[in-house]
Amino acid sequence: MDEVSNAPVDLGTSGWLAFEDGDLAAALASFLTDGDLAAAAFASAWIGDSLAETSAPATVLDRLLVGLAARLHGAGSESVDVARLPDLSGFDVPERAGWLIALTDLAVAAAGDDWERVNAAADRLVAAVEQTGQAPHLVRVGRSTKWERLTGSIAYASGGNGPEGTAWLSNITVFRDRHHRPPAHRPNPPVAHHVVLAELLGIAADVISQARAMLDDAWNLDSGCCYPNRYAYPHQWLWDSSFNAVAWAAFGDHRAIVELQHLFTGQTADGFLPHIRYTTPSSGRGPRSDRSSYTQPPVFAHALRAAAEAGLQVTDEMIAASGRALDHLWDHRRADNGLIFIVHPWEAGTDDSPRWDSWAAPHGWDIDRLSRYDRDLVEVTRFDTDGVAVWNDRFVCCPASFNAITAWACAEQAALTGEQRWAERAAALAERMDSLLWNENEGLWDDLPLVGGGPSSSVPTVDGTLPALVTTDVDHRDRALHQLTGCGRFAGRYGRSFLPFDDPQLQPDVYWRGPAWPNLEYLLWQAARAAGDEPAALEIADAVLQGVLRAGFSEYWNPYSGQGAGGKPYAWAAVTAAIARPYLGG
Ligand code: GLC
Repeated sequence: MDEVSNAPVDLGTSGWLAFEDGDLAAALASFLTDGDLAAAAFASAWIGDSLAETSAPATVLDRLLVGLAARLHGAGSESVDVARLPDLSGFDVPERAGWLIALTDLAVAAAGDDWERVNAAADRLVAAVEQTGQAPHLVRVGRSTKWERLTGSIAYASGGNGPEGTAWLSNITVFRDRHHRPPAHRPNPPVAHHVVLAELLGIAADVISQARAMLDDAWNLDSGCCYPNRYAYPHQWLWDSSFNAVAWAAFGDHRAIVELQHLFTGQTADGFLPHIRYTTPSSGRGPRSDRSSYTQPPVFAHALRAAAEAGLQVTDEMIAASGRALDHLWDHRRADNGLIFIVHPWEAGTDDSPRWDSWAAPHGWDIDRLSRYDRDLVEVTRFDTDGVAVWNDRFVCCPASFNAITAWACAEQAALTGEQRWAERAAALAERMDSLLWNENEGLWDDLPLVGGGPSSSVPTVDGTLPALVTTDVDHRDRALHQLTGCGRFAGRYGRSFLPFDDPQLQPDVYWRGPAWPNLEYLLWQAARAAGDEPAALEIADAVLQGVLRAGFSEYWNPYSGQGAGGKPYAWAAVTAAIARPYLGG
């Protein structure tokens, strides 16, 4: 280490803050610490500009800081030139990993005010710098009037040894308006995927261990499943348990099988799978007191596939039960137009989505009115002799999301059985969605109302991108997926918002009116992977993993702040472990 300064950084008491010389790095760190990401971006833009001006040697770390801050900041992304992000190809894997993990850890620790961890990360960073043959320049950051929490050490590598290595930091002043607050709603800035990887490496393991502990705790030995939340939702839900099974599979835990087996015990003789299996008699969702008369998106086929791929003992009976459930949808819920229909918004799983507003809230949305509407719809539903919902005189709709998940389920069933008819059904549904639901203006798939409804079926909601899971129309797929990441209108720092960030209807904290949902994030991540778009998948993973940690494994969260909402903890948040797994490495 060639330089250590113990001088406290005077951050001033006026409305403006000034940083000079090597303190710019400290300024950047302090902005990150304080969560003022716009200011961090500003500082990093200065670093970037000075790199360009002086043509000083640009180290990997310099560039990573620019990228990291670009990634972290919210507004003003145009001030950061991401083209200056590093090309790490010249470094071998351990070196790269060393840089990235230490840097990630540093940012995460600083943001969490964990100074022990900051110091440990700083030490590792210094070691990583030394490994590359460059001597690190150490800046010690002192306590200040403004930045009360800033008491640790930050290691920062400048542009190499000697004067030319630090020259580019000279005479730079960064101003920050003390009263500046980043805007509440904002899209993600553009980001290069290796920078996201830097963050992911640091948190994937945390997500997996916390998800596992949470799911272990939620496990209900008597029922053989996890309730979504012990207090708010003490029953077994169809798609919730499917996502839980995906999480169990990611841990290689046999409870994936037990949870799905329990799900199938709710199946009726002709194959119908209910949306809820009650643990104690309940009412209000059709004539039966042991289970709901409605269904939910058939995520179970994918869950079986995930369990099989994890080497768990998926039995022939389970695969057959999955096939019967899909047959039931095909035989009883397919409209003349070839699409699958639902007879209550609950069946889509997106209960209060703005896509139901033409039915449920033609004069403006309000949660009480919607709940009343949902109950009224039960009254007018037609049930068969088994108590299974078959039609509704006021609400029938072919949603993009339900059809997409059904088509995907058929494709998964094809993979499980090798039977061609499932692949044919998947293709047929995909074709129908592209022909009947594609909205050229929005670049999304709409829903199609069959009874009631109106323009709300075209409201741009993020689940309108789910047909990307199965479509063969590459143009449609890419247009839809493009909206999920980077500057895309659904991209938030901690996940995708349910409505675009600039939509006047957006309520980022309100149930199905804006928050990010971990189960949808999983499906969208799968869609990006299915498209072979690994950078997009990586960015989705990065945001959702950060989001789930911030939100404390809650039911859903604000995609811009990461503030959790709904039930907490919530079992399906564990599905993020399946997202984290591929990024663990080793
Ligand atoms: C809510 C959600 C639904 C979920 C259920 C249990 O009703 O809208 O998607 O399955 O809670 O978690």
